[in-house]
Amino acid sequence: MIEVYGLKKSYGEVKALDGINLKIERGKIFGLLGPNGAGKTTTFSIIATLLRPDEGDVLYNGGSIFSNVKNWREKIGFVPQEFSIYEDLTGYENVYLMGRLYNLPPQDIRKKVEELFEKLGLSEKMKEKVSRYSGGMKRRLNLMMSLVHDPEILLLDEPTAGIDVQTKQRIYDFLRELMDKGKTVLYTTHMLKEAEELFDVVGIIDSGKIVALGGVEDLINKYADELHVEVELYREKVEDGYELEKFGVYEKESGILKVYLKSQSEITDLLKKLTEMNFEVRHINLRKPSLETVFLKLTGRELRD
Ligand SMILES: Nc1ncnc2c1ncn2[C@@H]1O[C@H](COP(=O)(O)OP(=O)(O)O)[C@@H](O)[C@H]1O
Ligand SMILES: [Mg+2]
Repeated sequence: MIEVYGLKKSYGEVKALDGINLKIERGKIFGLLGPNGAGKTTTFSIIATLLRPDEGDVLYNGGSIFSNVKNWREKIGFVPQEFSIYEDLTGYENVYLMGRLYNLPPQDIRKKVEELFEKLGLSEKMKEKVSRYSGGMKRRLNLMMSLVHDPEILLLDEPTAGIDVQTKQRIYDFLRELMDKGKTVLYTTHMLKEAEELFDVVGIIDSGKIVALGGVEDLINKYADELHVEVELYREKVEDGYELEKFGVYEKESGILKVYLKSQSEITDLLKKLTEMNFEVRHINLRKPSLETVFLKLTGRELRD
């Protein structure tokens, strides 16, 4: 069990973390979901002991990870958001090098590297220079480098940023396989769909604070009990100064008004009011409650893919 208590971290005036509390159980995939700048990387950098918090602590099975950093680092595999790869080396050499840094016997490393390249579908590129890899290949290599010492706990900071759907699925399958073997996975993303598909437990982070924590279904049931309606208005008819915000969230660029209603009958009232105010409706959409609904409800902001 990993427990994060009251983490605070400031960069000058910027409060990157403002009291983060989390509990992560063994064998689960925990996801930290939030927009850019929310504090995901800062949280993970602290858990990876690359950064010290101003306040708070991270406990593993009851003891602070900072009291024995070396021991903790051997247990974890950290995949940074930015690639940490030597472009002039081959993929094989990059992962091999990591194995040497962990002092593993060369023959064990060789076996492990081949197994990882096979699992992530990169065997053919193993002996090629990384400078010739595509973005998706580099992402997979970045992941392999954190796995060579067979860590119990994996910390992945946006491991699927900027890659195609097939590669994403391959990474998901691979992670599920690791969890079947009892590994614990901590994962950050700003992508709602990804969170819905992957996480056992999700923590929604916004401006350095956890605004919701729980299972995906539980959060949806708890926060998204209302009807989510999107009304697209003809933008040219919407004059500045109208207080569309009193209905819900209005997005100027798209002309879409997002409203939460208690019951279906309120849709008629809403449309009537809009008509009275001379707005013309272009399209109306009833949305199934999702993590997006939860996020919008809690923060009033949209999380974009
Ligand atoms: N090294 C740094 N120096 C100054 N500000 C930083 C630094 N790292 C992060 N920040 C700020 O801290 C906040 C949280 O950043 P970060 O943890 O990277 O968010 P996320 O990973 O969720 O996008 C942001 O406002 C960011 O600009
Ligand atoms: Mg980040």
